[in-house]
Amino acid sequence: KIVPVILAGGSGTRLWPISRDSLPKQFLPLSTSGATLYQDTLQRVAQSDLFAAPIIVTHEEFRFFAQRQARDIGVEPTVMLEPVRRDSAPALLAATLLAQKLHGEEATLLVLAADHVIGDIARFHEACRKALATATLGHIVTFGITPTEPRTSYGYIRRGAALNGGTAALVEAFAEKPNAQTARDYIEAGYLWNSGNFLFPAHVMMEEAEAFEPEIVEAVRRAVAGSTSDLGFCRLGAAFHAAPSLSIDYAVLERTSRAAVVEGSFPWSDVGSWNALREIGEPDEAGNVTRGPVRAVDATNSYIHSEGPLVAAVGIEGLSVVATGDAVLIMPSERSEEVKHLVASLKAER
Ligand code: GDD
Ligand code: MG
Repeated sequence: KIVPVILAGGSGTRLWPISRDSLPKQFLPLSTSGATLYQDTLQRVAQSDLFAAPIIVTHEEFRFFAQRQARDIGVEPTVMLEPVRRDSAPALLAATLLAQKLHGEEATLLVLAADHVIGDIARFHEACRKALATATLGHIVTFGITPTEPRTSYGYIRRGAALNGGTAALVEAFAEKPNAQTARDYIEAGYLWNSGNFLFPAHVMMEEAEAFEPEIVEAVRRAVAGSTSDLGFCRLGAAFHAAPSLSIDYAVLERTSRAAVVEGSFPWSDVGSWNALREIGEPDEAGNVTRGPVRAVDATNSYIHSEGPLVAAVGIEGLSVVATGDAVLIMPSERSEEVKHLVASLKAER
């Protein structure tokens, strides 16, 4: 069986003011299902003929969200807690070591981001089966997505030789977060987006990480060896502090020659901006999506979301409006990627 690992420690700032450091987007009910993105992710790997019980990795601060939201949908996960944020590589490697402890050296893992929307679970499982067949040959398999625009917040993949009768391909090049011009060139050249979900044999990931980032592996090994367990939580030891902060994309995917890609034919969104929420939110005939107490007259192509106050709008077009008890955000939807800079400048002033 595949061991699912859910990385749930990110601090999504792009959906400010709803997503905050203290309550990031994976724990918010943002999908059309009414569940949180994290709960949807758990449901995605709940099928027990294919998947073992999940391992969650998150920051100490989010432990109750991670445990309670899982229990609310009848899942009893192992929740591994990081004492400090070190980005995705240390978290993923700690979970890999734990999976080997629980399921043996030969365990195969499916690492999932906790904050993505995947539209068609059956197709996703089909992609997982293809990825499993290729991972068995000793590859770290990523799921590629056909790009629609030159986003700079993604990893890009150039496909090489076909594997497994064309169900997968070798990754010839992997480039994380290129600049806008390079992203345009990549799309022209037929690159895929990296979806940020990975399937691999545990030992292959550990060998590659050991080769490229021995310092991370050393710190993580000591943190796992020094971990303590209570009430369904596994607390990583203090040695975790010594791990350099790095994402798995820079740490391993950009450097390894053992990566492969399976094309995901499922609808996918990483809900990276308010505009993405409009796109996945089933817009009405005028192209609007509204959430909460909202009254809109003659609005078009707008996303209007209120967590409290009544929001009323007349004659607006292409705007995102988001209101909470203590903040209101208004912007042209196509500039919704800029929220992260806004949040950074607000933090700097504090
Ligand atoms: N436990 C834990 N600890 N999880 C973390 C941490 C951490 O310190 N940092 C990030 N994560 C989790 C996030 O919650 C998310 O589920 C996942 O790891 C990916 O991290 P992001 O910070 O969202 O990465 P990204 O969106 O910039 O880039 C990745 O995803 C893109 C697609 O959405 C990369 O894999 C890109 O190549 C990819 O295109
Ligand atoms: Mg992300």
